[in-house]
Amino acid sequence: MANKLPSSVLVIGSGGREHALIRSLAASPEKPRVLCATGNAGIAADATCFPVPVEDIAGLVALAQRERVEFVVVGPEVPLSLGLADALIAAGIPVYGPKAKGAKLEASKTFTKEILLKHNIPTAAAGFFTEVEPALTYLKSRPVPIVIKADGLAAGKGVVVAQTATEAEAAVHDMLAGNKFGAAGSRILIEDCLFGEETSILVVVSGRDYVILPTSQDHKRIGDGDTGPNTGGMGTYSPAEVVTPALLARIEHEIVRPSVNAIDAEGLDYCGTLFIGIMLTPAGPSVIEYNARFGDPETQVVLPRLKTDLLALLWAAAQRKLAGFQLEVQPDYALCVVVAAKGYPDKFQKGDVITLPAALPPHTFIYHAGTAKNAASQLTANGGRVLGVTALAPTLREAATRAYAACDQVQWANKYYRRDIGAKQLNRK
Ligand code: AMP
Ligand code: GLY
Repeated sequence: MANKLPSSVLVIGSGGREHALIRSLAASPEKPRVLCATGNAGIAADATCFPVPVEDIAGLVALAQRERVEFVVVGPEVPLSLGLADALIAAGIPVYGPKAKGAKLEASKTFTKEILLKHNIPTAAAGFFTEVEPALTYLKSRPVPIVIKADGLAAGKGVVVAQTATEAEAAVHDMLAGNKFGAAGSRILIEDCLFGEETSILVVVSGRDYVILPTSQDHKRIGDGDTGPNTGGMGTYSPAEVVTPALLARIEHEIVRPSVNAIDAEGLDYCGTLFIGIMLTPAGPSVIEYNARFGDPETQVVLPRLKTDLLALLWAAAQRKLAGFQLEVQPDYALCVVVAAKGYPDKFQKGDVITLPAALPPHTFIYHAGTAKNAASQLTANGGRVLGVTALAPTLREAATRAYAACDQVQWANKYYRRDIGAKQLNRK
């Protein structure tokens, strides 16, 4: 390696994604010192945690300086869109994660749509609106179902797939007149509905260079059989065989390469993960969204499959030395079941005591997404999505068996998880 790897790395965030990042970074042959802000009870076992909130940009830069951190890896979108990467670069600290102008690809759906359309990247036709009346007129010209999207960050809740005209009109009113999403909803996008299976492609981007990570598929709905409300993600598996090698080649040619080129041409000076949400429509793959970060829980299945040193990969990206980087992936399947608090994504309880199994099946690990310790030092539930149980195995079925065996052994009165993670791929055969 031309470039010496950093001996310390600070990971920003506190969820399952960050726990997976930390486990993989800590496994580097470089044996870096791993720090985290803010972390959680599980992360605290693998990294030194600091109680600096992820929105406190100045506080995070000061932490990195005080601890003489050589590299920062940013998990969530909020600090990125608040300019954390810009502030770290200004302080001379290498960072993996885009600047605010790059994070806008996630923070503004209209910004992204304009780039997609301008650069002829496949995506659904859309109209842009700030006023109710023109939006309602546009709705009349489009078929249902139709998709209404608030422009800004709305924690995954700013998208309504309206099945009827009445539902669509209500969504327009809610967002533009009802102020349901505050400033995030003062601009909206009305987008044609795409039909097909969804997949996400995670790409490590460094300027015009990129490395595509193994494919994965999320389960966004709360209930078995993809029913009920959308969530942050209830489980994943990798690889997603719906993305055949031929389809992946097509996605790279029609979407990944053009996206990286477009982002570079727009001067976004991008270094970080580009998470491309794709609908596999009968007419071909079409971009639903970009995110400016790793996916959660995609990361919990993608990273355990890398043979490549994650630290070397992210460092190469941050040093703008990604060209020619060869990714090594192990053939095992990975499957992650998210264990959530009963009631999520609506109302749920925090503070329940959780007892983790004393022994886990082989190649099975528990990532902590939302855990804390109570005054008696017991592990407690501290969020909606609480654990991510990932297993690796030579077959997807075996990975599911292992992950579910571990989930079943988690003792917690209010645990909830989907029983059908991976079923779609298992049943396809
Ligand atoms: P987004 O926040 O843009 O990822 O949207 C959240 C979810 O809404 C996506 O994961 C899709 O399931 C759905 N969605 C978004 N845009 C469309 C579309 N144009 N057609 C169908 N479903 C969509
Ligand atoms: N799993 C979807 C996301 O991270 O946005």
